[in-house]
Amino acid sequence: MFSLILYEPEIPPNTGNIIRLCANTGVRLHLIEPLGFELDEKRLRRAGLDYREFAEVAVHKNLESCVEQLDGPRVFALSTQGGTAYTVPTYEPDDAFLFGPETRGLPLALLDSLPSEQCLRLPMKENSRSLNLSNAAAVVIYEAWRQLGFERGG
Ligand SMILES: C[S@@+](CC[C@H](N)C(=O)[O-])C[C@H]1O[C@@H](n2cnc3c(N)ncnc32)[C@H](O)[C@@H]1O
Repeated sequence: MFSLILYEPEIPPNTGNIIRLCANTGVRLHLIEPLGFELDEKRLRRAGLDYREFAEVAVHKNLESCVEQLDGPRVFALSTQGGTAYTVPTYEPDDAFLFGPETRGLPLALLDSLPSEQCLRLPMKENSRSLNLSNAAAVVIYEAWRQLGFERGG
């Protein structure tokens, strides 16, 4: 199933929402350090998440080691600067979706290192800034899963 990678996430409730999104859709969640918060069981319970949801989360020192561990998946970067609408690609089960930190977005150098058809944008009204990170993640994961016929979902 898909992988969702959060690059240096900053805001705990967004990551909490995404942990639940991943638990409900069978997506593997990877967090790239540094994180803007501590991931411990007390905070986790306060956020309404249970241990089973939390157990699926992997934390990596950097993006390179994460991608290597995933065996070099096709990486789609999500950015307000992306040139391709998220509805255009035909997704495959091993694809990875990379999202940027809440206040900064993904580094430009990282976006430049990917083919433009893998830099995706969710359409917004003119002069809008950006969507909330966890909302953007939910939209993209559900579109990708829809394309797979909601495999193993019910
Ligand atoms: C709050 S946004 C970051 C805002 C940042 N100022 C920027 O312009 O990228 C956090 C992350 O959500 C995702 N995101 C938010 N809105 C998006 C959009 N319209 N298209 C694609 N990704 C989006 C991106 O991964 C982004 O890095």
